[in-house]
Amino acid sequence: MDVDALLGLRSPAGEAALAASAALVERGSAAVDPLAAATALRAAGFAPDLASAALTQAVLRRRAEAKFGVDAHEMFFTRTGLEQATRRVVADRRAARLAAAGIARVTDLGCGIGADALAFARSGLVVLAVDADPAAAAMAQANAEALGLADRLHVRCAEAAAVDLSDVDAVFCDPARRDSGRGRRVFDPAAYSPPWSFVVALAERVPMTVLKLAPGIDHALIPAAAEAEWVSVDGDVVEATIWCGPLATAPRRATAVRGSAVHELTGTGEVAAPVGRVRRYLFDPDGAVVRSHLVAEFSSIVDGALADPRIAYVFADAPARTPFGRCFEVLEELPFPVKQLRFALRTRGIGRLEIRKRGVAVEPDRLRRELRLSGGAEATLVLTRVRERPTALLCRTAGNSAPLPGLRATW
Ligand SMILES: C[S@@+](CC[C@H](N)C(=O)[O-])C[C@H]1O[C@@H](n2cnc3c(N)ncnc32)[C@H](O)[C@@H]1O
Repeated sequence: MDVDALLGLRSPAGEAALAASAALVERGSAAVDPLAAATALRAAGFAPDLASAALTQAVLRRRAEAKFGVDAHEMFFTRTGLEQATRRVVADRRAARLAAAGIARVTDLGCGIGADALAFARSGLVVLAVDADPAAAAMAQANAEALGLADRLHVRCAEAAAVDLSDVDAVFCDPARRDSGRGRRVFDPAAYSPPWSFVVALAERVPMTVLKLAPGIDHALIPAAAEAEWVSVDGDVVEATIWCGPLATAPRRATAVRGSAVHELTGTGEVAAPVGRVRRYLFDPDGAVVRSHLVAEFSSIVDGALADPRIAYVFADAPARTPFGRCFEVLEELPFPVKQLRFALRTRGIGRLEIRKRGVAVEPDRLRRELRLSGGAEATLVLTRVRERPTALLCRTAGNSAPLPGLRATW
C-alpha cells in the first residue's frame, strides 16, 4: 500500500469500495475466495486497483480487531505496519504511565501506522510522530484523523536522526526489527532501524526516553539504571520496554496482562531462586517473569523452589492461583526414552497430551507423532532436566481431578 493507494481509499469512491469490501469480508467470502471477491467488486463498478486496495484493507482491518477492537474498522494498515503495531492494551498502559509522570509532549521516532502515537494522544499528550517511510507516515496521519486525534497528534515523514529533540519532554522509539530484504524477524540489535547506536544513545539526549524492544533483548545491552519491563498478553511475551531516567522505578518488571487485568512483579533481576527437589505442584512461570529474571521473586510468591538451578520450573507443596504462571499437579515421573514413554501413556489411556519443555532438546510436535497417542484421557507432559538428568513429569492442571486410568500415585 503506497500513499496514492491510501489517498484513493480515502476518496468517496474509496469509502464505497471499503464498505463493499468489508461486507464481503464479513460474509467470509474474501477469506474463502479473494479472486471471486475482487471480481464482485469490479462488477460493482470499482476500478481494479481500488478494488484490490479496498479488499486488502478490509482483510487487514478484520485481522486488526485482535489488537485494536472496533477502532480497527476506522483505521488504515499495511501488512507490515499491522504486524509491528503495539496492541492497544499495551500502548494505552505505556501512554498512561507517561501521562502519570507529568509528561505533556512526546516525540515518537518511527511511529509506523501510529499505534503508540495514537495511545499517547488518547491519554492527553501532544505528540510528534515521525516515520521515514512515506506510506507509514501517511497511515499514521490518516489514523489520527479517523480517530479524531489529529489536533494533538502531528505526523512528519522524516529520518529519526534529523529530528530536533532539544525541546521535548520525552521521546519514544520502537525501532523496526525486520530484515527488509527477507521480511524475517531480526533479533540482532545491530540490525535495528533506526540503528541500535542511535536508539541506545537517545537517553543521553532526552532523559525521559522509552524504548520498545524485542523480548529477546540481552540484559547486557540494557542501559545501567534503566528499568526493563517485559510485557505478556494472555501468556505471550510481546515486548520489552526500557524506561530511562526518572521514568525508571524498578530495575526489572514483569507485567502480565490477562484480559482487562494487569499484574506486575518487580525486583532486581539478580536474585537466584532457591533450589530444592521435585514436589507435588509445578509452576510454569509466565514468559515475562522468566525473561525479566524474576523467577526468585515468583518462587517466593508460591513458596516454591527450582529443581534445577538453571531451569525455570518452580516446585511447591501447595497449589496457588497466580496470574504469573500456570500451576500443574505432578502425578508421577515417567521414563524419558520414547518407547517406554509411549507404553506408559498408552497404559494410562492418554490420548490428548499437552507437551511443555524447558532445558531439553525435544521437538514437541515430532515427539507427539512418535508417541502415537490413543485413549480418552488428557494430561500434560513436562520434559525438563533435574540436576542434569532428563526428566519426564506427567502432570495435570491443578484442580482438575478427572481420573487417569493406570495412574501410579507418586505422592
Ligand atoms: C516497529 S515500527 C513502529 C510501530 C509503532 N510503534 C506502532 O505501534 O504502530 C518501526 C517504524 O520505524 C520506522 N523507521 C525505521 N527506521 C527509521 C528511521 N531511521 N527514521 C525514522 N523512522 C524509521 C519504520 O518505517 C517503521 O514504520
